[in-house]
Amino acid sequence: MEIRLFRTESFRLTAIFALLFVGATLVLSGVLYAIVDSAFKSEVLLNAGQDLAAIRKGYDSEGISEAKEVVNQRLARPTTSNFLLLQNAGGKKIAGNLPAITPAVGTVRLPISAARKDDRRAEHRILGRGQFIAPGVYAFAGQDLAVFNAAEREALRAIGWTLTAALIFAVAAGILLSRGFLRRMDTITQTCQAIMAGQLSDRIPVPGTQDELSRLASTINAMLDRINALMENVRQISTDIAHDLRTPLTRLRHHLELARAEAATVDEYGVAVDHGIEDTNRILSIFSALLRISQIEAGAGRASFQRVDLQKIVKNLADLYGPAAEDKKHILEANADSSVDVFGDRELLSQMFVNLIENAITHTPDGARVTIDMTATEASVSVRVADNGPGIPPDEREKVFRRFYRLERGRSTPGSGLGLALVAAIAQIHYATVELSDNAPGLCATVTFRKLS
Ligand SMILES: Nc1ncnc2c1ncn2[C@@H]1O[C@H](COP(=O)(O)OP(=O)(O)O)[C@@H](O)[C@H]1O
Ligand SMILES: [Mg+2]
Repeated sequence: MEIRLFRTESFRLTAIFALLFVGATLVLSGVLYAIVDSAFKSEVLLNAGQDLAAIRKGYDSEGISEAKEVVNQRLARPTTSNFLLLQNAGGKKIAGNLPAITPAVGTVRLPISAARKDDRRAEHRILGRGQFIAPGVYAFAGQDLAVFNAAEREALRAIGWTLTAALIFAVAAGILLSRGFLRRMDTITQTCQAIMAGQLSDRIPVPGTQDELSRLASTINAMLDRINALMENVRQISTDIAHDLRTPLTRLRHHLELARAEAATVDEYGVAVDHGIEDTNRILSIFSALLRISQIEAGAGRASFQRVDLQKIVKNLADLYGPAAEDKKHILEANADSSVDVFGDRELLSQMFVNLIENAITHTPDGARVTIDMTATEASVSVRVADNGPGIPPDEREKVFRRFYRLERGRSTPGSGLGLALVAAIAQIHYATVELSDNAPGLCATVTFRKLS
């Protein structure tokens, strides 16, 4: 657990931010130090310059004794430089609180030991200026850097503490965050393992927070629901296939048994074999229809999509099914005034409308009226196949799209209940919708496509 904690993304991120913070603080401190340092030092040098100017002025007006006076006066006033020195051409001290030094002009740094022999904090210095105020007469004014150095040490210590505290907080925050993250990952892993072990209905608990882990959990749950629905679907289909193939297989066996028990002549056997072939063909056609639906649902065929004129398809089918309708004394009418293109597969689209037209012809009593209308709007185009037969009750309009689903009263009509399932699959790969509604009386099936621009 402990090693895992440090390997998490949240811990890594926290560590990176902590390092960035430390780096930024160090850079900021460095810049601040440089600014304060140069400000302090120029202030010291400015004061020293003013002191030297005053000493020089004194010397110029009244000679060396006045210069000495100025030095003593300035030393008594704490606001100016706290170290002053005036020495003569012989290198002998005239006034001030420093021992005589080797004269140096400009900015000068003296070790503190020059002023106090007993001061053991010898690492700091006196910063100041040296100048000859007259030939041979040397003056120095400067300030002890001890105060500044002490402040500097305090500041460094404060920065050190701040950084340490920040690092401790960062590590603690990293551990807390990573723990929470790991705990939630563990629940996801456990749920997935439980599902793999067979508890298919288990789901990952989703907390109210809308963070990325919650979203991941919701997505995984949605995916599991979808897989569950698909599996349920597959289970349902297998049951339906087993159930619905029993009827034709039973009939085939019945015909064979009858032939064995009763057929005596070659002709009678021939008739029995013909029946058998007919039954087998029926079974085969069910299998190929099922296969076709699966292939279409899997998206096969989209590769061959192209512009297809719906008007042409509708008109062709109306011509083709005219005779079949007439046989049942039906009236078949088609209204498709304008040509409208959709993106799709001509064969599949024709098959879809054929299934709807055949239903309207076979599931209605003789003399019904079947109409095919095509209407286009701005963005979509709809094809309606309507009849004035018995229709489908509202609570069965969803179910008839399932494989093998047939209404009770439709059992006597030819068919295997796969027609509308194929319609739904074809509509789906064309991104079209199919809707069954009441034609009062009768059924109205509407397929709506998105129009091609
Ligand atoms: N136009 C219609 N009028 C009345 N019932 C219909 C119509 N179209 C479909 N049905 C009902 O829906 C069922 C499913 O239709 P379908 O999937 O095409 O299967 P099949 O036509 O092979 O029976 C049909 O058995 C029938 O009961
Ligand atoms: Mg049908």
